Amino acid sequence: MAPKDMATTLTARVRGVRSIEIEMADPERAADFYSRVWNLHEVARDGGSIYFRGTGRHHHILAIHPATHGAALRRVVFDAADQAAVDRLFDQTRARATRCEEPHALRTPGGGYGFGFVDPHLCNLAVVCGAADHADSADAKDRPRKIAHVNLNTPDVKATAQFLIDALGFTLIDETAALWFMHCDSTDHSSMVIGPAKLPTLNHVAFEMPDLDSTMRGAGRMRDSGYPIEWGVGRHGAGNNVFAYFAGPEEFPLEYTGEVLQIDHSYTPNGPEYWKWPPGRLDQWGVTPPHTARWKRIQDMVLFAPDAWRL
Ligand SMILES: [Fe+2]
Repeated sequence: MAPKDMATTLTARVRGVRSIEIEMADPERAADFYSRVWNLHEVARDGGSIYFRGTGRHHHILAIHPATHGAALRRVVFDAADQAAVDRLFDQTRARATRCEEPHALRTPGGGYGFGFVDPHLCNLAVVCGAADHADSADAKDRPRKIAHVNLNTPDVKATAQFLIDALGFTLIDETAALWFMHCDSTDHSSMVIGPAKLPTLNHVAFEMPDLDSTMRGAGRMRDSGYPIEWGVGRHGAGNNVFAYFAGPEEFPLEYTGEVLQIDHSYTPNGPEYWKWPPGRLDQWGVTPPHTARWKRIQDMVLFAPDAWRL
C-alpha cells in the first residue's frame, strides 16, 4: 500500500477541547464572573451570546448563551487540524451519531469550519477547525490557557468511550474505579473524562492554569470572591494534575487545574487496581479533605441543552 493510501485509512483524531458553550439564566452576571474572577478575556458578543478567550491560541474557549431554563451545557467543541481532518472526522462520525449535520463554514464569532452532532447517549458535541485564532498565545500568570478537559457523566461509560474512540480518534489512556480517561492527538494525558450516571450530564469543566502557583492563586481569588473550594486543593493520580473545584454562577461545576501530565506514545496505561489510594487519602499529597455535599450535588446536575446541537 502506498503511503498516501495508508494515510487515508488511519483514524482521524481531534486535538483536544477547543471550547465549551454553556447556557445561563443570567448571562451578564456570569460574564462578569468569568472575566473579573475566573480571569478570562471577553472577545466578542453576538445576539446575546458572550465569548471569552484564555491566553492560548483559540479564538474563544467559553461561550455563554442566554437560557430559558437555567444552567445547561449547549455543547463541547473539539479542535481539528484542518478542513481535511474535519471532513475525515465527519466520515467517521455520521454513521455513529444519533444526529449529525454536514461540515460547513461557521458564521458565529471566530468563524471556522465544522459540524455539530449528538452522540448515542445524547451529548451535544462538535468539531471545528480554521477559526480566527490568536497569534498571541503566551502564558500569563494566574490566567487560564485553555480547556484542559471536560468530564461528562453518561448512562453507558463503555459505549460513550467507544464512540469517542471510533468517531473522534480518542484512546483510553487510564481507568480508575470511577472514571475513564480519554487521550487524543495532543501531549496532554487526557482531554475527556467519562463517568457513570443515570442521565448524560456535565460532571465539570477544567480550565488549565499555566503553573502550580497560578492554580493556587486562582483558588485563593475564588475564595476571596465568595466561591469556596468545594474539593481540593490536591494532586490527582491519573493525569498527575493539581486540582481545585468550585461552584461557579448558577452552580456550574468548574475546576482550575495545573501541571497536567504530558505524555507520548511510550506512556503505559493503568487500570483501577493501579489507581488506588491508601485508606484516608484522596490525592497524591494527602492534603485534600473529601468533596463537599454541594460538589456532590452539582457534579451531576447540568444537563445538555436539548435541540441545540447544530453549529
Ligand atoms: Fe477534572
